[in-house]
Order: sequence, then structure tokens, then C-alpha cells
Amino acid sequence: MERFIIQGNRNLAGTIKVSGAKNAILPAMAACLLTSGKSVLHNIPNLIDLKTMSHLLRVIGARVDNENGSMTIDARDVCYPEAPYELVSKMRASIYVLGPLLTRLKEVRVSFPGGCAIGTRPVDLHLKAMESLGATVSVEHGYINAKTDGLKGADIYFTKSSVGATINTLMAAVLAEGKTRLFNAAMEPEVDSTIELLNKMGAKIDGIGTTTLEIEGVEELLPAEMDMIPDRIEAGTFLIAGALSKNPVTVANCEPSHLTAVLEKLKEAGCELEIEESTITVIPPVSIKPVNLMTLPYPGFPTDLQAQFTVLMTLAEGVSFIEDTIFPERYMHIAELNRLQANIKIDRNIAAVRGVKELSGAEVMATDLRASAALVLAGMVANGTTIVSRIYHIDRGYECIEKKLNSIGANIIREEVS
Ligand code: EPZ
Repeated sequence: MERFIIQGNRNLAGTIKVSGAKNAILPAMAACLLTSGKSVLHNIPNLIDLKTMSHLLRVIGARVDNENGSMTIDARDVCYPEAPYELVSKMRASIYVLGPLLTRLKEVRVSFPGGCAIGTRPVDLHLKAMESLGATVSVEHGYINAKTDGLKGADIYFTKSSVGATINTLMAAVLAEGKTRLFNAAMEPEVDSTIELLNKMGAKIDGIGTTTLEIEGVEELLPAEMDMIPDRIEAGTFLIAGALSKNPVTVANCEPSHLTAVLEKLKEAGCELEIEESTITVIPPVSIKPVNLMTLPYPGFPTDLQAQFTVLMTLAEGVSFIEDTIFPERYMHIAELNRLQANIKIDRNIAAVRGVKELSGAEVMATDLRASAALVLAGMVANGTTIVSRIYHIDRGYECIEKKLNSIGANIIREEVS
């Protein structure tokens, strides 16, 4: 197991680059199962979750090669319609094979995803949508079994905005017979990216960037090639690192239009921002202002940056209230931040963060991907040494985070522990 040893230092400065978006690449990989040829995805970082997805696609019968930031997926021989427990229990996004395999192979078996560190995370919307398209779905012995004689287009209303259910349903509906309309669909950039890839493959999806999507089923899809979008959550994490610093930090290779809500909140905290086509420079405030925050579906503030923004508020001059409406139990980082002498209290799923003069380095434990990123940010500004253990969580979604942050002045050492 590995851990980070972090020496506190607020003198970050320079330019840091963002990689491709994990949460756009995962569904793109699953979408490649819809063609019987070789698709190519570019801007692929080296992440554990992408390795887990590659493993799953290979189990299903695809050939996956990943070299120099480009991934080739040959789905000609896809034949084994199962996502086994060992892989789904490592990564919930394995559920993305449900839609593509159901429509292509007419049957699929996916281990039922359990809860995780950020909450219970049901998949009822995915299953109801598959039923609406004409599948018979049952859950037995810990597995979701879905079968169909052929999917048929339908009108589907999502009672909650869900990135995963929207994408899974899109991937099932593109080869269904007739027209499907999705209402209250998620509008996250990762949904748009999946639509763009599916349309490149020959799908007919209208309504990109809105909550109503219309899909006209087609007979077949052909392989495609696409550059993956930059990771808005990694970009947001680095912007918050800059806001916590004493000097300007430039985040390069990002898409500023995907970060509107985050940029608004950084401004409210007192940061100055210089925004160009694909770079954002954050000029940190002399003193951080408290900001109230509610996470919401896109274009609202992302839940995946809630923990990191909470770190910024631990050093604000006053009290901030932070509420995660997407995952109301996503507060495992709070107890760890309080170990670093933050002053945060949780009352009915709202975190009240009273700013302190400084955080104090200590040993802390990462519980999930974004909580780990928050602990790294906190360690970078805390007084003294912070040790973050269980950093395998961070490697799931951030490529070489310590190398990137060290390149702008952080002092983070990765260490193997027995
Ligand atoms: C995606 O998860 C992301 N994962 C998450 O990122 C992200 O936090 C989340 O979207 C919200 O933006 C990937 O893209 C792989 P949802 P997903 O379905 O699709 C409820 C990270 O750190 N819901 O949009 O699983 C659900 O409980 C990860 O990179 C149902 O009730 O999230 C939540 O309250 C963590 N029933 C809300 O909808 C369902 O069937 C939104 O979840 C599905 C979801």
C-alpha cells in the first residue's frame, strides 16, 4: 500500500496541465462495444479506473490496447455478456456495459453494485429505463439479469437527473427500433461527450446540451475516433489548489465553459480569474471569503468538487454552509479535515465550516477519490507534515497527482508502506 507524505507550503506557482476526463472516457469505452470494429479514443490518462474498465471489456471479448495516450478498442469478438462481481465491486461504472450489451447481444448479466463511501447509490433508474425499452429485468443472487427479443423506442422520464442512467439509456436506445425520447436527462459534459461519440458512430441523437434527448434508432453503428474532453473535476481541483496558494496558478488544457459554477464560487471566495480559450489563471485572495454552496446537477456546482471546496472554506474568514444535494452522505472527509484542526460540524446533511487561521499537519486516511484529493489539498496548506494513507483511491481518477502538483511547487512524496 502507498501513502503520501506532504510538507505544507502555500507557495505554489506556475502552470499545471489537465488530463482527459475519466468520467467521459469510461462511458466512451462502453460505447465502443456497440460496433463490431476498432474504435480509437485519444487523450487517455493512466488511471486505475480505466485499467479496471479495460479488464472488464477484455472479459467481455473486446481487445483493448492503450499506448501513448490513445486507446484502441476492437469489439469485433464481443460475446460474453457478463460484468462479474470482482470488477463491479472495484468500480461501479462497470454498469455502463448494461445498455450496450443488452442492445447488441440481447442479454446481459451485471453484478448488482453495492453502496460505496459516498452513499447508497441505487441503480433503479437504469433498470426502469431498460424495462421501458422492452427488456425483462430481474435481480437474483446479486446479479442484474436483462434480456430482450429486440429493444423498442419509448418515452422515458427520469424522476431524478442521473448521469449514469442517461448515458446507459442512450447506449441502449441508439440501436433500438424506432424513436426514444428522454425527459429530464442529465446535461453533464460527460453526457454530451458520449452523445458526440455515438453520433460519430452513426447514431441519431438530437437535443445535445438539453434535458430532452431524442434518439432515432439505427440498424448499426460503425467504429469511430475521438479526442476525449478535459477533466473538469481535475481542473477544478487544481484551481482550488491555486486559490489556496499565495501566487497565481495557471490551469492549462481545460475547458472553461464546463466550469462556470466553480469559477463563480471561486470569485465569491475572493479569487481573481483570467480566463482564456483553454487556460484559467487563478490569482488567490489575500484573505479567503466564506461562501455558501449547494451541489446540483450540471450546470450547478459539481458534487465531485464539494470536498475540495470545503478545504478552501476551512481557511475562510467566517462561516460557510455546504450542502451536497446529489450525495447527501458524502461527508467522510470532514472527520479527517477536523483531524487537521479544521472546524467543521455536520447538521442534517449540511456542513458548517468555520474558518480557522491555519490547518495543522497530521495523519489522515483517504476514503474515496475526491475525499483523497481534498486531503492532499489540505496537507499542502497545513502547517508541518501531513500523511495521507490509502492513496490508491486517488490513483483511480488523478494521473500522477503528486508529480503534477510538485511541478508547481508542492512537496509531496509517494511512499510504499507494508
Ligand atoms: C456519476 O456517477 C459520476 N461517476 C460520479 O463521479 C459523480 O459524482 C456523479 O455522476 C454525479 O455527478 C461517473 O461518471 C463514473 P448519478 P453516477 O446517477 O452516474 C441518484 C467520481 O468521483 N440515482 O448522476 O453514478 C444517485 O443516488 C464519481 O468521479 C438514483 O436514485 O451518478 C444520486 O443521488 C463519484 N437512481 C443522483 O441520482 C439511479 O438509478 C445522481 O447520481 C441512479 C442515480
